[in-house]
Amino acid sequence: MTPSLKPTHLSFTVVFFTVASPQDWILGSRQMIQSSRTILFLFLLAIVLDKHAIQVSARSLHDNSPDCDCYVTSGRSPAFFEYHRFYDFRDIAGDSVYDHEPANVTNSQSNGDEPGQQGYLNSSTFAKDWKIQTWGHEREGPDYPVTVQNSPQNVFIQRDLLESSTSHLTLRAYRAEDFTSTAELEGLQRNVLHASVRFRARVRGATGVVAGMFTYLNDSQESDIEILTRDPPNHIRYTNQPSVGSDGYDVPGASTELDLPAPIVWSEWVTHRLDWRPQMSSWYADGQWLLDKEYGVPYLPSYLVLNLWSNGGDWSGNMSLGSAAYLDIQWIDMVFNKSGPADGYKLEGIDKFRRNVNFVAKRESHCHRVCAVDDIPAAGFPVLVSQAASTMRKTEWMSMYALGLGLALASTF
Ligand SMILES: *[C@@H]1O[C@H](CO)[C@@H](O)[C@H](O)[C@H]1NC(C)=O
Ligand SMILES: *[C@@H]1O[C@H](CO)[C@@H](O)[C@H](O)[C@H]1NC(C)=O
Ligand SMILES: *[C@@H]1O[C@H](CO)[C@@H](O)[C@H](O)[C@H]1NC(C)=O
Ligand SMILES: *[C@@H]1O[C@H](CO)[C@@H](O)[C@H](O)[C@H]1NC(C)=O
Ligand SMILES: *[C@@H]1O[C@H](CO)[C@@H](O)[C@H](O)[C@H]1NC(C)=O
Repeated sequence: MTPSLKPTHLSFTVVFFTVASPQDWILGSRQMIQSSRTILFLFLLAIVLDKHAIQVSARSLHDNSPDCDCYVTSGRSPAFFEYHRFYDFRDIAGDSVYDHEPANVTNSQSNGDEPGQQGYLNSSTFAKDWKIQTWGHEREGPDYPVTVQNSPQNVFIQRDLLESSTSHLTLRAYRAEDFTSTAELEGLQRNVLHASVRFRARVRGATGVVAGMFTYLNDSQESDIEILTRDPPNHIRYTNQPSVGSDGYDVPGASTELDLPAPIVWSEWVTHRLDWRPQMSSWYADGQWLLDKEYGVPYLPSYLVLNLWSNGGDWSGNMSLGSAAYLDIQWIDMVFNKSGPADGYKLEGIDKFRRNVNFVAKRESHCHRVCAVDDIPAAGFPVLVSQAASTMRKTEWMSMYALGLGLALASTF
């Protein structure tokens, strides 16, 4: 999507500067503007051109858009963030996108070393930001009766059956005889400290599986959206860890189970949103605020995780042999702040973190060009909503163009 209006702006600029410098123009034009008709005309023209400027920006904004210094969220927990990432799995092209899901992992493939999908998931673009996990966890007593093994074979881009032009990412869990073959994706932006993250997701398939979309550092720095396929499709769980105390009992207020407002069900596409701000976590579904939580709000730099797993225990539930479940993702939209080195907080000791505080990655520029990420025409494409006076340069220039154009036209009246 190339902004068609941009070249026009540039040609205006060229014309403008071949005539005079901006200061000369302002001085000269003061004497030239005589009739109120001209002033009104200029005013209207400036408005029209300014609107164009915003539309152009809206279309050209993407990831770390150069047109946005910062991002503002809406809802009950509005906040400003410095960075933006948009991971869109909807229009992935190429032969490597599967028309049908790949074979299920067999019982003999218990190492998690199966090859992953070629194409997009194998590209350096993807590998720069995400890592498909291959770790496993042996069964361990009555609470963890089934071995879990992540496999790259359970992470793939699939064409949509109904609309062949679109695609989505899928994480799959499959119950083999001796283990559950699971899927996990970890974000490589390891220094996220506060964020507003939106996952356009759907969960389907067998009972006994947990779909997780969360921020993570360790088991006490973790903020979760969890969907259990043994729950009804309108039931969801929002948790700040730790949810179980050292005494083995649930920590009151750590985990909240609630019903999504009708007609929202997690078995259909839903925009799940987690807002992580200092001292407050908030959760939304399809733009509707559902919960605030002060307990256990993470305070150390973390990263995103998506997973789908089952250990056969009471909590996750037990998948029956040969059954499968799926976490489908259309896109992930994240605005965030960061702190410390890109590879994240080192868990060895708090001292290290204290040192890192001095290296907090702060941009020199302040928040001048503010872009909205909610209630915009296309999710993932922030829209410029305001510019601080000190960086009005673009708008000033637009007025200049208007002035120049207006004067040129006025002289022909
Ligand atoms: C993110 O960082 C900016 C710049 O430091 C700050 O103004 C903003 O309040 C921060 N956002 C949150 C949620 O802490
Ligand atoms: C994987 O297992 C599920 C559940 O039995 C089944 O529905 C699906 O078709 C299987 N996938 C393939 C490619 O055979
Ligand atoms: C792509 O796949 C090949 C073969 O499985 C692997 O060796 C390579 O590391 C992958 N590249 C990326 C960027 O994931
Ligand atoms: C997580 O890391 C922090 C900082 O090192 C530490 O204080 C906390 O005890 C850790 N939590 C767990 C469950 O290991
Ligand atoms: C869990 O599922 C497996 C496979 O279907 C089955 O063999 C086992 O008996 C189940 N365990 C429980 C406690 O239901």
